Amino acid sequence: MYDLAILWDWAEFAIRWLHVITAIAWIGSSFYFIALDLGLNRNIDGPADGEEWQVHGGGFYHIQKYMVAPEAMPEHLTWFKWESYWTWLSGAALLMVVYWAGGELYLIEPSKADLALWQGILISAASLSIGWLIYDFLCKSPLGERPTTLMLLLFVLLTAMSWGYHQIFTGRAALIHLGAFTATIMTANVFVIIMPNQRIVVGDLKAGRTPDAKYGKIAKLRSTHNNYLTLPVVFLMLSTHYPLSFATPHAWLIASLVFLMGVTIRHWFNTQHARKGSPHWTWAVTAIIFVLLAWLSTGPLGDSYDDAEARVLSPREQSFVQLAEFEAAESVILGRCSMCHAREPIWDGMHWAPKGVFLETRGDIARHARQIYVQSGLSHAMPPANITDISPEERRDIRNWYRAAVSGS
Ligand code: HEC
Repeated sequence: MYDLAILWDWAEFAIRWLHVITAIAWIGSSFYFIALDLGLNRNIDGPADGEEWQVHGGGFYHIQKYMVAPEAMPEHLTWFKWESYWTWLSGAALLMVVYWAGGELYLIEPSKADLALWQGILISAASLSIGWLIYDFLCKSPLGERPTTLMLLLFVLLTAMSWGYHQIFTGRAALIHLGAFTATIMTANVFVIIMPNQRIVVGDLKAGRTPDAKYGKIAKLRSTHNNYLTLPVVFLMLSTHYPLSFATPHAWLIASLVFLMGVTIRHWFNTQHARKGSPHWTWAVTAIIFVLLAWLSTGPLGDSYDDAEARVLSPREQSFVQLAEFEAAESVILGRCSMCHAREPIWDGMHWAPKGVFLETRGDIARHARQIYVQSGLSHAMPPANITDISPEERRDIRNWYRAAVSGS
């Protein structure tokens, strides 16, 4: 029963592995096509609209672009869609495993909003779907003809979502949800807009009709958005490793400013690939925004040890502390872990709790029970390099406590 923790940890790893691989494939192919398209030589004779020569892996490639479509359907056509779909599917699975199944620890934060876990999960699922509906509505409205205004509105929407998520979820969950919100829009662009339009064009070609040029134009708008959203999404997905990005009071603003860097960085590459020069000023702007993020993360933290100590424990948390085995485990954790994992760490050179994990109060310890078990009972990951000299007996005390709690429940 308690070894579900092992299965769980490995399942999470497997899904994360899949997610990173598919995301690399998706982003890789999308970056490749953006650069290819921008770099095409368009002054050519013949039916194609542009062409490019490339060399890679010992061979030369001669690529031609036909816009809207070639005269006749080629016999074999490679589509690019599963990279995107699998990134979304594996990301959704990971969100469910970490933030829904582990919601008491990672999703809801009682001091922000008094939500039951199921309510948090409902908000999580609903917000991700509604985001796409709002975005799609904006793109299809007359604003679709004014790309710059549309982009600004999109930025306002993302900032509002960032703020909203931070009002109800933990900082970690807020940043991940903002990333998932954006990534859902990106995959839906592929699934709901780009692919169906592409299929209409292919259908027209097969039937001998000339495809309408509007389909290419619509797809172009959506893929431009995807282009600018990619880097911020990757930042948000990585943010959980850095407590200063998600567990500080201005985290919602930090998350929204990241989207500006997505534009400034991509602008340099897009201009470069189109052989229109090198707008180096964009790097200066990016650096200024990055320094601004770092500065914003130094705002005063509201939560104190006393507040945490006074928090009422949930029934599940109670089940971890009301055990005879708890006392021994607690004293190990206070003696071997809290010097680093504190609201004000006393470990030399440590200025904030690593990964935002606090292990000071009974509530902290109960919330992180499974992580403590995996990090220091089942494995020797913590304390790092066993720097605080935890003994094998103390690790056993942690295991005994966790196993007693889980088999009792
Ligand atoms: C010397 C400081 C220090 C001590 C002592 C320490 N940790 Fe950590 N802990 C860290 C650091 C640094 C990280 C971040 C590691 C990383 O970035 O992968 C961390 C991360 C963690 C995490 C989060 C892991 C994750 O990937 O989400 C948990 C849980 C944890 N520690 C539990 C413990 C427990 C339990 C103990 C005591 C048995 C302990 N730590 C003792 C420094 C410490």
